[in-house]
Amino acid sequence: MSDHDPLADCRPETLAIRAGLNRSQNAETSEALYMNSGFVFDSAEQADAAFTGDIDRYLYGRYANPTVTMLEQRLCALEGAEVCRATSSGMAAIFAAMACCLESGDRVVAGATLFGSSLHILGKILPKWGVHVDLVPPADLDAWEKALSTPAKVVFVETPTNPTLDIVDLKALSTLAHKAGAKVIVDNVVATPVLQRPLDLGCDVVVYSTTKHLDGQGRTLGGAVLCDKAFDKDHLQQFLRHTGPCMSPFNAWVVVKGLETLSLRVREMSRSAQILAERLEALPNVTRVAYPGLASHPSHAVAKEQMLEGLFGSVLSVEVAGGRPAAFAFLNALEIVDLSNNLGDTKSLSCHPTTTTHRVLTPEARAAAGITEGLVRISVGLEHVDDLWRDLERAAQAAGSTLRQAA
Ligand SMILES: Cc1ncc(COP(=O)(O)O)c(C=O)c1O
Repeated sequence: MSDHDPLADCRPETLAIRAGLNRSQNAETSEALYMNSGFVFDSAEQADAAFTGDIDRYLYGRYANPTVTMLEQRLCALEGAEVCRATSSGMAAIFAAMACCLESGDRVVAGATLFGSSLHILGKILPKWGVHVDLVPPADLDAWEKALSTPAKVVFVETPTNPTLDIVDLKALSTLAHKAGAKVIVDNVVATPVLQRPLDLGCDVVVYSTTKHLDGQGRTLGGAVLCDKAFDKDHLQQFLRHTGPCMSPFNAWVVVKGLETLSLRVREMSRSAQILAERLEALPNVTRVAYPGLASHPSHAVAKEQMLEGLFGSVLSVEVAGGRPAAFAFLNALEIVDLSNNLGDTKSLSCHPTTTTHRVLTPEARAAAGITEGLVRISVGLEHVDDLWRDLERAAQAAGSTLRQAA
């Protein structure tokens, strides 16, 4: 039998539709949903051999499931990773990626601007177990160099960050981190595998909330950790098997189908985000638009270098003059964009990070990260860009009217 792989030289668009497809004896076109928790053995001897690892087969749903495997293999192909492990949520993926390789006395250096629950893990859970955590302004390479002049076990970053859209130079950071003995774990949620491939830039582990663009239609919670075989064998696989944050086969099936349209969605949403960011920047009562695709973004050059396709993602943040009352007026005036703390959906979504996603931060930490009272995060969806613009322009006018009332 030939071992020719027809997908070997294929592009991500093809891999997103075909990689990992494992048809059953029924030859279905679409991926099958194996909605089972256990598997049946032919004999006690076979079960014995399976549990000792002498034969390779499915044992139990907490370890692996054929539908989940299809998702994992498809994500591996898109990311250029050797191994993918799907998890029950993005936070399960982030926690597992760190906890599986840390022990008491270890040190983690992380970007200071991260999703609120990641900051909770770093600030409240890991220190309780004797792990020391230092936070660094994400875009400041001098600060990273200083922090990594002493050994560390893990470096954890998001880029672009949620919600301030700061950019970490992943190539430079990987070099510094490896000198300090650290593995670099990247939360690639905002960029997606379509627009950024951290493993190609020298990073070691990539984590996703598949809840976001990978599902992309607001249906399921899920996560994924992507790494090499050594990290999986030494740390991840056993940690996940025995702590149990596995992805449901149904959710894996939904995300597998979501991946088929991922590049189309991400490109279109990112094109709209660029247009909206440029238009919002020109409005009089908008004091800042955080979007890496804008020439005014302090790390625009780095983003251009490390992000792909000349696109910068579907998430932007806008700061309106007038603080919280103006931000709330903006959100309450939206008629098309929904008020929701999710992102990466085909439906445009918007939220006030200070009072929702980044509530767990102290006011000082929020101020240091640039998460101000007037900041509104917008996840741009697939609606027509001109309809979104009408909605956002009206919202900005409503925010401006709070200023006139206050005057
Ligand atoms: C950047 C980022 N990472 C991780 C998560 C966590 O993902 P999940 O909600 O799937 O646990 C989120 C959002 O919830 C996020 O925005």
